[in-house]
Amino acid sequence: MNTPILATRDLHMAFGGLVVFDCVNFNLNAGESHAIIGPNGAGKTTFVGLLTGLLKPVSGEVLLDGRVMTRDTPQMRVKAGLVRTFQINSLFKALNPLEAVVLALCERDGRASPSLRAVKHESGLIDEAQALLNQFGLGRDALVRTETLAYGKQRLLEIALALALKPRVLLLDEPAAGLSTQQGHEVFEQLLRLSTGTTILFIEHDMGLVFRYADQVSVFAGGSIIAQGTPDNVRKDPRVREVYLGT
Ligand SMILES: Nc1ncnc2c1ncn2[C@@H]1O[C@H](COP(=O)(O)OP(=O)(O)OP(=O)(O)O)[C@@H](O)[C@H]1O
Ligand SMILES: [Mg+2]
Repeated sequence: MNTPILATRDLHMAFGGLVVFDCVNFNLNAGESHAIIGPNGAGKTTFVGLLTGLLKPVSGEVLLDGRVMTRDTPQMRVKAGLVRTFQINSLFKALNPLEAVVLALCERDGRASPSLRAVKHESGLIDEAQALLNQFGLGRDALVRTETLAYGKQRLLEIALALALKPRVLLLDEPAAGLSTQQGHEVFEQLLRLSTGTTILFIEHDMGLVFRYADQVSVFAGGSIIAQGTPDNVRKDPRVREVYLGT
């Protein structure tokens, strides 16, 4: 069997006395679109935080290509190709999408926080940023203030910014949160169309999106992964029906 691109071994996580999960063994195979589902508070976001290095586990390991990287910083993991979607925070809100993508491309090229003024005349960089926005249908929005963009477009921009880094693995925490069902489908269609060569791991509550866009599903509940498999198999699993789908 091939080595999973990303894996965890006996991962144990707690916040003080609150054990979030224990002994989580997880495999993400290259090329997969893999969904994490589970009830509120099951530890899905915490799990992604452990993968990106934002959080440290109590014990256990995180492995990229079979190499232990549990003690690597988030920056080291990004360099190794493990990227999570940017949240459009106050910094990005004040920029326009073109400026934001230019900064992401600079980061990809290993240029630490250049001033926008310094890169404004680099036409190759600007053209690449504009081309990426065009691919996401955001070409006409390149020069508007990001905070004035419709919510669905902000979600797409977050994905475009992450893909600008050319990740090997992209992690997304509820990319369709706050969107209508149709907008959610649009976001996933674009994501899967434009992320060729990138392995995708996403947390999602909307089962319609999960069953349509995931090849594999892992179910977090009660402090562990209670089921993992294809959407069809997971849907049929009696434990999942009982714990999560409530049927
Ligand atoms: N920084 C923190 N400090 C203390 N407790 C935390 C912290 N982050 C999360 N928790 C707790 O850990 C548990 C798991 O939280 P987490 O956010 O990972 O769940 P989730 O599965 O992502 O839930 P949701 O579906 O609501 O997003 C919850 O009980 C939460 O209250
Ligand atoms: Mg969460």
